[in-house]
Formats: sequence, C-alpha cells, structure tokens
Amino acid sequence: MIVVTGATGNVGSALVRMLAEAGEQVTAVSRRAAADLPEGVRQVTADLTDVQSLAPALEGAKQLYLLFAQGSFEADVPGILAAAAEAGVGRVVLQSSQGVATRPESASHGQLGKAVEVAVQESGLEWTILRPGGFQSNMFAWAEQVRSERTVAAPFGDVGIPFVDPEDIAAMAAAALREDGHAGRIYTLTGPVAETPRDRVRVLSEILGDTVQFLEQTPEEAQEQMLKFMPPAVVDTTLAILGHPTEDEVRVSPDVEQVLRRAPRPFAAWAERNIAAFR
Ligand SMILES: NC(=O)c1ccc[n+]([C@@H]2O[C@H](COP(=O)([O-])OP(=O)(O)OC[C@H]3O[C@@H](n4cnc5c(N)ncnc54)[C@H](OP(=O)(O)O)[C@@H]3O)[C@@H](O)[C@H]2O)c1
Repeated sequence: MIVVTGATGNVGSALVRMLAEAGEQVTAVSRRAAADLPEGVRQVTADLTDVQSLAPALEGAKQLYLLFAQGSFEADVPGILAAAAEAGVGRVVLQSSQGVATRPESASHGQLGKAVEVAVQESGLEWTILRPGGFQSNMFAWAEQVRSERTVAAPFGDVGIPFVDPEDIAAMAAAALREDGHAGRIYTLTGPVAETPRDRVRVLSEILGDTVQFLEQTPEEAQEQMLKFMPPAVVDTTLAILGHPTEDEVRVSPDVEQVLRRAPRPFAAWAERNIAAFR
C-alpha cells in the first residue's frame, strides 16, 4: 500500500492516478474528500497537522509520499515519520523544493524546507527527496484573466525559468516509490527549457487560437496581488526567484531525463492538457 498525501493537489492527484494505473494499492490523503478518485483507490481524510488523524491512512502502508503545502506547514514532521515507521512504512519520498538549495536564507523556501528534509533524512526510513523548481501549474493564476479579458498581467516578462510540469514530478515520485535505486538521492526537477512569462502567454495564445495580451506589472503591483493569497515571506522569495533567479534556478536539470528516460515536458504540453481552464 502506497500512501499519497496532498492527494487532491497538482502533483498528488496525478500521482494517485499513475500509481492506480500501474496496479498499485493506493491510499489518498487530504483534509477534504477528493471528488474523482480512480476506481479502487482508498480515501482517508486526515490532517497532517494532527499526527493521530493519520493512523487510519498509515494502516498497512509500505511507502509514503509526503508533501507539506499551505495548510500543513505547521505539521510535526518527525512525529509523522515516527508514526509511519511504527505502522510499517519502509520508504518515504518527500516533495521538497529547489529553494532549499538556492534560497537557504529564506525562512519560507529555505529554512522550513531544510528542516523537513533533515527530519526525513534522520527518520531511519529509506528516503528520496524531490526538489522541484517553479510549477507550470502556477499559470492557473492567469486563467480567470485570460478567460474574461484575454490578458495576463505579470511581472518580469522577459526573465526565463524552466518551470516543471507537475505530471513530471508525479512520474518521478512514482519511480522513487515503486523502484529500487533511488534511496538517498536528491533530485532537482525542472522543465526542458527556460521560458519567460511572455513565451508562456504566446503558447496560450497559439493553443487558444486567440490573442492573449501580456501586460508587464511592476514588482510592487505583483506583490500587492500575491499578498492576497500568500504569506509575506513566501511572496518576497517568490518575487526574488521570478525577477532575479540564480544560475541554478535557470539551469535545466538532467534528473527527470535520467530517471524517466525521456525529456521533461514543455509548458505547451501542460497548457494543451489544461486549456479548458483558459477558454
Ligand atoms: N508551486 C510551486 O512553484 C512550487 C515549487 C516548489 C515546491 N513547491 C511545493 O509543492 C507543494 C505544493 O504541491 P501541489 O501544488 O501539488 O499542492 P496543492 O495543489 O497546493 O495541493 C495541496 C494538497 O495538500 C493537501 N493539504 C493541505 N493542507 C493539508 C493538511 N493540513 N493536511 C492534509 N492535507 C493537506 C490539500 O488538500 P486539502 O486542502 O483538502 O487538505 C491538497 O491535496 C508545496 O509544498 C510547495 O512548497 C511548489
């Protein structure tokens, strides 16, 4: 039995589907029930900030996919890992963030993420850590404006970063959960090419068959907008990455291709799959 936390999110929902298609027994964990789980997947609603609530999910589990999103940053990570080990879990795969390596000084991206990684590394379980860069699915934030006004207002229009497709993160997670040979490895996950916000808007225009205009926001305008749905520390580091990425943040990582034996997926593939949200 493989337990997937964050099971209704961008990565978790894809991972649950992939594992079920591969014939694995899967338990999907989130606080709210998932609407459309694949047949045969066991659903357990639990809260990562309440270790005891996880007990039914961990029953019979051998592998655990662990991620902490907004809503679970306060979790007792060593407590969860101890409960997992107690229940018989032998292998944990952690969804961390590239920011742990590239933004060590950041409280949100670097320090919190590092503490979680250390807890996993010291858990006594066999572990693999995935460090994705920015997600292609972050462009869902543009969907409403594209639908209603055929525009995208975003900062740093000409700064390119190789955002990763959550499906590729899920595929890497599935490999690390199911196959041997990934223990003790830290993988950096990116897309195949550094694309700018203007490039992504062009891709959306082409797939929609309609012009989407790009309006360059000032960093201050972007900050004001992002503060409506993200804590200030997260906004500051996110804007620093988007505007002034480090060399490592613009570099295409070889890890997806090495493990999956295929190139990472470009933004166009993500946009094709999700274009209904932008119509
Ligand atoms: N977006 C990026 O560019 C980026 C880059 C690098 C790393 N990351 C990392 O990726 C993670 C987000 O992944 P994602 O986009 O796949 O997630 P997501 O789409 O934001 O979904 C979050 C999932 O976690 C569940 N969840 C949240 N709080 C919970 C709690 N207290 N207990 C149990 N489940 C909880 C949610 O379901 P419920 O709300 O129903 O519980 C949902 O299933 C974060 O850790 C983020 O730091 C993101």
